[in-house]
Amino acid sequence: MGKVTVMTSGKGGTGKSTVTAGLGAALVRRGNRVLIIDCDAGMRGIDLMLGISGELVFDIADIINGNCPPMSAIYPCRTVPELYVLPAPQNVRDEISPSVMRQLTKVLTGYYDHILIDCPAGIGAGFETAAAPASQAVLVANAEPLSLRGCDKVRRRLQSCSVDNIRLIINKFNERKFRKMGVFEDLDAVIDEVGARLLGVVPEDNAAAAAAQKGQPIEGKLKAAYALDRIAARLDDREVPLFME
Ligand SMILES: Nc1ncnc2c1ncn2[C@@H]1O[C@H](COP(=O)(O)OP(=O)(O)O)[C@@H](O)[C@H]1O
Ligand SMILES: [Mg+2]
Repeated sequence: MGKVTVMTSGKGGTGKSTVTAGLGAALVRRGNRVLIIDCDAGMRGIDLMLGISGELVFDIADIINGNCPPMSAIYPCRTVPELYVLPAPQNVRDEISPSVMRQLTKVLTGYYDHILIDCPAGIGAGFETAAAPASQAVLVANAEPLSLRGCDKVRRRLQSCSVDNIRLIINKFNERKFRKMGVFEDLDAVIDEVGARLLGVVPEDNAAAAAAQKGQPIEGKLKAAYALDRIAARLDDREVPLFME
């Protein structure tokens, strides 16, 4: 049975979808078969980041409404074999209930080693649906007070949805800017603020961000790819030292 991880963030723009797409590819590099379920109804982006937006016919709402069998709405990423995407509905009205999402994901776990669910930012509409099937959660935050503020609320809501294994990814990290901002003494202070164990730090990497925006995988010599490979190993329960990113 595959591991189901919900990818969350306090506010939008922390890089949750970019990290989800990149982490999916990194898990594939480790030999996993991976499905990303885009649950950000009305704001989907994973299809674009994996270069398949032009191919989409069906989405998750079509499965629920009986318009197609599940496998017809699951698209292979052309550039990363064994990475698959189940797109979110384009329309927010097509929101799915938590119990239906749980049932659908349960069926799908038989076919994949990892399922990553890209959740809408914050704890508004769609949060509980995205969190319902997950056994673990990742909070994607930036090392800035505004990004961290919402994390606390998300962490508490995840716990109330019985998702207790919650880990933190600090994304877009730039040491020079972090020191210049002078709000936190070090990364430990950031981790304390969120109250979740650190899963990894992804550096600010404009080349990786640009690749994702063009539908290309984050791989090879990109700095972010290196960090994502280490995070993927930790998600596969491997011991990888944290502070050598
Ligand atoms: N590690 C990174 N380094 C630099 N820019 C990044 C990084 N991760 C994401 N971005 C950029 O941040 C912006 C928001 O990313 P996105 O993944 O859409 O965020 P979210 O899904 O949290 O709203 C995009 O412009 C994206 O290219
Ligand atoms: Mg997003």
